Amino acid sequence: MAETLTKLAYQAFQNGKSAFSLGHRTLATQLRQLLRPELTFDLKSVDSDFLAEVTRRREALLQVDWEEAAAGIYPEALLFDNPWDDFFKYYPAVVWELPQLWERILNQETQVFDSAINTQGFPRYYLQNFHHQTDGYLSEASANLYDLQVELLFSGAADAMRRRVLAPIKQLLSRQSSLGDRPHPYPRILDVACGTGRMLQLLQGSFPAVSLYGLDLSPAYLRKANQRLSQVNGTLPQLAQGQAEAMPYRDAYFDALTCVFLFHELPGPVRQQVIDDCFRVMRPGGTLVICDSIQAVDTPELEPMMANFPILFHEPYYRDYIQDELTPRLETAGFTGVTTQIHFVSKYWVAHKQS
Ligand SMILES: C[S@@+](CC[C@H](N)C(=O)[O-])C[C@H]1O[C@@H](n2cnc3c(N)ncnc32)[C@H](O)[C@@H]1O
Repeated sequence: MAETLTKLAYQAFQNGKSAFSLGHRTLATQLRQLLRPELTFDLKSVDSDFLAEVTRRREALLQVDWEEAAAGIYPEALLFDNPWDDFFKYYPAVVWELPQLWERILNQETQVFDSAINTQGFPRYYLQNFHHQTDGYLSEASANLYDLQVELLFSGAADAMRRRVLAPIKQLLSRQSSLGDRPHPYPRILDVACGTGRMLQLLQGSFPAVSLYGLDLSPAYLRKANQRLSQVNGTLPQLAQGQAEAMPYRDAYFDALTCVFLFHELPGPVRQQVIDDCFRVMRPGGTLVICDSIQAVDTPELEPMMANFPILFHEPYYRDYIQDELTPRLETAGFTGVTTQIHFVSKYWVAHKQS
């Protein structure tokens, strides 16, 4: 009975977030048509079968999310974890930012940063207004809006997609403990491109007895991550600023690495460099889990979604990414036993470094 009630509550919670996202998209479209009628997007049309398929995939994701919590892979409480304070506080700013964003789209401005932001020292490919965000990843305001914007984009399913990373990590930790394969007291897990720390928070809530690390290029996003993670009981993850393709860690340091929503924002050669560096910093026997967008090869039925995404959002490397098979890249780096999964609109690669 308690389980049925919790499941119903979870479904209601997700449906609420989905309805809110739909309401936001409707509001944003109406405001744009009213304020900037000259701004239109040449989008691929979608039919009712397509929408039914997207709904089916979302429901399947939520079912797996529920089942894995019920199986004890992570606590059920994590299903309801949401940064509500930020959501209520920053939603007006999301709406308020829209006219600026439309202005930049109309002017085809995709690499604009406030003059107070120091852009020195960042790779050129990174200095972009990804998603048309004001100041790209380089301001506090952008960091404050990021999680809410991702939730609105994925109809409230962003964390459910992130949680699909947890089962392979749990398997690794169980395997290590059954083999007595623990070279240090706490397994070390690094979240590569940790952004504002959402994945770290889910890892923290699932595996209290691990040492967590987060790396990102954005100082503003790291400050946000630090603020968020320090509010939670338990060990504070160690955060560092750096490039995922040249990480500031010694060889074979980590037991596991996770990487969520990074690869579609990298040029192809950098994707290989990041994978190579993940292999370098992982100890033999370790596991890497990558989560990113679906790709053309697996889900041709969702092609209109993949075509429309970079039209609506500034994502300069996305079209290349959806054609880029990461499995051969992982094998080139030395990873073995690579498997893939698809959940909703995300794809996952689980790769191992042989002992
Ligand atoms: C789409 S966000 C994903 C953030 C987070 N992983 C999540 O789950 O939402 C991409 C993140 O990658 C970071 N990033 C992009 N290129 C990077 C690089 N070469 N090295 C380290 N971080 C990078 C950005 O600063 C940003 O925080």
